[in-house]
Formats: sequence, C-alpha cells, structure tokens
Amino acid sequence: MTARPLDRGVVHVHTGHIDLASGAIGELETVLSADERARAERFSFDRDRARWVAARAMLRQVLATYLGEAPESLAFRYGEHGKPAVDGSELELNLSHSGALAVLALTRGCAVGVDVEEVRPVPDAAELVDRYFRPSERRAFRAVPEPLVSATFLRAWVRKEAVLKAMGEGIGALDSVEVTVAPESPPAILAPDSAAHWSLRDLDVSPAHIASLAVAGPCEDVMISEWRPSTPCRLDRDG
Ligand SMILES: CC(C)(COP(=O)(O)OP(=O)(O)OC[C@H]1O[C@@H](n2cnc3c(N)ncnc32)[C@H](O)[C@@H]1OP(=O)(O)O)[C@@H](O)C(=O)NCCC(=O)NCCS
Repeated sequence: MTARPLDRGVVHVHTGHIDLASGAIGELETVLSADERARAERFSFDRDRARWVAARAMLRQVLATYLGEAPESLAFRYGEHGKPAVDGSELELNLSHSGALAVLALTRGCAVGVDVEEVRPVPDAAELVDRYFRPSERRAFRAVPEPLVSATFLRAWVRKEAVLKAMGEGIGALDSVEVTVAPESPPAILAPDSAAHWSLRDLDVSPAHIASLAVAGPCEDVMISEWRPSTPCRLDRDG
C-alpha cells in the first residue's frame, strides 16, 4: 500500500459522520483492537457506543492511508494524560468528537490538538467559565451580550481545548491556557508563554459544529476532507 504524503507545516483535517447504520458499525468494529472493542462495550448507551466505534475506526482507516499499513495493524501508545500517538511514526494526530461528527487532525513532526463541539445552548456556561477560564478570559466573557453567551463560550472552549490537547495535558491544566474570548475575536493564544509561537485556527467543519485547531509551530495550510468508511457493507446514515 502506498503511503499518503503529508508535508511539514501542513495540517490535514478529516471529518467524519459517525451516526452510521448498525451493519456498518459491525463492519467497522472488525478493524478495532481487542482493547478497543472492550472499551466500546463499557458505554451505557448504544448510540454512544456506535459513535465511539465509528470514530475509532475512522482514526485507524485514515491513519492507515498515511502509514501504508492495514488499519487493524496499527499500535497506539498513550501520553501521561491519555493522548494517543502511533508507535514508531513521525505522524502526530488528535481526534475529537461531538454529537454525530468526528474530526481528526494530522501533522508531521509537530504536536497538534483539535476540539469540536456541537452548537447548542450551554446553560452552565457561567459556571464552566468560573471553573476553567483565566481572570482575563472571565472578564471578557462577562462583557458578552446574553444572546451571544452560549456561542461565545463554545468558541472559547474549543480554542482552549485545542491548545490543551496539543499539549497532551488533562482538563486540570485548562486554566493555564488563555485564548481570545470576545465574540468575533481572531483566534490567538495568550498563555502559556511556551505556546506563544504556536498556531491557533478556527475550523469550519460543519454548520452544526464549531471547532478549533492548535499546532505547536507554524501552520501554513489546512486541508479539510471528509472520511467515508471503507467497508464493503451498505453504509446508510441513521436519521
Ligand atoms: C481528553 C480531554 C482533554 C478532551 O475531552 P473531550 O473534549 O471530552 O473529548 P474530545 O472528543 O475532544 O477528545 C477525545 C479524544 O482526544 C484524545 N485524547 C485523550 N486524552 C487526550 C489528551 N490528554 N490530550 C489530547 N488528546 C487526548 C483521544 O483520541 C480521545 O478520543 P477517545 O475519547 O475516542 O479515546 C478531556 O480531558 C477533557 O477536556 N474533558 C472535558 C470534557 C468537558 O468538560 N466538556 C464540556 C464541554 S462544554
């Protein structure tokens, strides 16, 4: 199998619709490892389980095209806070899923983080801001007009999470990350200082979602493409 090229400084983003018919999920599950299948069994709700299987299969199928290997043969290792990486490869990856959408970002030799959230009302936005945002972010958030509160919160949240996920940290480190919060503000990282030269971009991946991408270095170009499950079965979308 020929490995798909990915140049330094370029980010390849793959989006995937992960609400798939049960037959398709059954097929996709065959590319998962035994550990992954065991993890899938721990979900309480079938829909969450199916979405997780689809996202994990997407991760394996997309990575396989860059590595020139079979999806089921890939081995992952995990950082201190659970960030996955591919054993023995320069490829850097990060996955995020929200609702029926998964987003996978890939770079070469440069840490990457991506976060996606379904657009929705966030009734507990003020509490989350008090808990996870830095003082200047809280001040900017308090100035946001009520009709824009949920959208502004989600935008700031995905920016912060993208940086956090590029760092490979856990949620506890979220208050060390400071980003631009005000509505319509261009994405920028204000803290930590160690991330001052990083790239932060908002991604347009779906009308029903917002997403941001952080790269630990220059980001000259972002290419977005849509994953289609490569299984031979019928892949009807639910709903
Ligand atoms: C991992 C974490 C950093 C992000 O979780 P999340 O936003 O719920 O989930 P996402 O879908 O964006 O990302 C999960 C994926 O990131 C990857 N991941 C796991 N740990 C990671 C880490 N420490 N750093 C980077 N990536 C990580 C995995 O591929 C994971 O996929 P999996 O769950 O299928 O195994 C988590 O610690 C976190 O922040 N949870 C907070 C969730 C929350 O409170 N959300 C409220 C939103 S309004």
